[in-house]
Amino acid sequence: MDSKVIRQKFIDFFKSKGHKIVSSSSLVPENDSSVLFTTAGMQQFKPYFVGTKDPVKDFGNKNLTSVQKCFRTSDIDLVGDESHLTFFEMLGNFSIGGYGKKEAIGYAWELMTSEDWYGLPQDRFFATIFAGDNEIPADEESEKFWKEVAPSIEVKKTGREENFWPNPVWVGTCGPSSELHYILDDGSSIEVWNLVFTQYFHSEDGSFKDLGQINIDTGMGLERLAMIAQEKSSIFETDLFWSIITEIEKHTGQKYSEVANQSKMRIIADHLRAAVYLIVDGVRPSNKLEGYILRRLLRRVAVKTFQLKDSLTPQLYSILQTIIDVHEHREVENVTEQELERFGKTLDRGLKEIKKIARIDGKLAFDLYQTYGFPLEVTEELFRQKGQQIDHKQFEEEFKNHQEISRAGIGKFAGGLAGHSETEIKYHTATHLLQQALRDILGPEVFQKGSNITAERLRFDFSFDRRLTDQE
Ligand code: GLY
Repeated sequence: MDSKVIRQKFIDFFKSKGHKIVSSSSLVPENDSSVLFTTAGMQQFKPYFVGTKDPVKDFGNKNLTSVQKCFRTSDIDLVGDESHLTFFEMLGNFSIGGYGKKEAIGYAWELMTSEDWYGLPQDRFFATIFAGDNEIPADEESEKFWKEVAPSIEVKKTGREENFWPNPVWVGTCGPSSELHYILDDGSSIEVWNLVFTQYFHSEDGSFKDLGQINIDTGMGLERLAMIAQEKSSIFETDLFWSIITEIEKHTGQKYSEVANQSKMRIIADHLRAAVYLIVDGVRPSNKLEGYILRRLLRRVAVKTFQLKDSLTPQLYSILQTIIDVHEHREVENVTEQELERFGKTLDRGLKEIKKIARIDGKLAFDLYQTYGFPLEVTEELFRQKGQQIDHKQFEEEFKNHQEISRAGIGKFAGGLAGHSETEIKYHTATHLLQQALRDILGPEVFQKGSNITAERLRFDFSFDRRLTDQE
């Protein structure tokens, strides 16, 4: 079953169950500043889930279905294995005050296993449900409903990490989830469909309030579904990726069947595909926010390509052609080519420089970033292969020193205007404390993006992929 049929069957199935088809929203959310990218199908429906908008008024229906373009940075380090991606298409059905758990579970089982639809073997599936904890009760109803539709299915109980969405919980609607997993030929299993029952509103004070109704929010990755429906051992061997992989083989003169090439080719395929869709939705390479994420994707494509063929040709026409429609081609081509050409100028020298480094440290990593444009994670990955790690603290120290030097330069020119009062020195110390506090609470991926200090206030910019809760 090719991926076009899989997509169409999903939509047809939910249409036959009275759902309204809604088109995908942009990868860059329009009215939601809490996230950089669209990461789930429900995101465009948030106002309906919290009740500030009425789905019947806007869509003429409480039950909706979509195929949503999604981009997640959270799995970026896992890309290269059999089943993880940054960009993917999420198949979803949603109900805002329409149906409940029983129907959602029944639909999922029918679509997956009925001969009229995907017809996948029943005995390959197991389900998971939320086991409950000291704040939220166990989801016993879902277990009952699974047993009703699929008496022989195994139902496993897991905790907040696995069966509560979103994770980590944001301010807004959330709830227990139930997942369908598929057992692969080698005995391992893969999560395919996440059914979320949004029953609660998680407030800024950290409490969970009952919404008074259960809403349905489901998400299934098209690529993983294609992998099991097409009986492949990785998503990259499905029809969604195979032509891209073949073009990468031609472009680099290397074979995917060589195990040593696989993760590199998968990363190129994923990152390039993601970059294309980001560009189509208006993102352009830059040093800030969405733009820097796009830049990092393309730089990683460049490094991996270089590793495979020892040179970089910024013209990726034939690979891009397999990803995108002809009419959107030119713009994407211009942007990727320009970006790769720019990076290509220093890439070769940077990689040579790296070969000379016997032992990497944070300072050298910063030099590579500063001089050759190597994103920290790229340098990190290149040295990880040699069994070496980079001290992020030291990298940041360098980053900060560098910013201070540039600032001092500006200060000189500005003369008395940018004087260093005692208050400003205190604010400066406070930025260091603030940065450490952010990293303690949110994790080591928080980086200072800039700061600006005057006698009246300090401003501290940092990047993080979601809005913070008040508690945080
Ligand atoms: N909103 C459901 C999911 O992302 O899995």
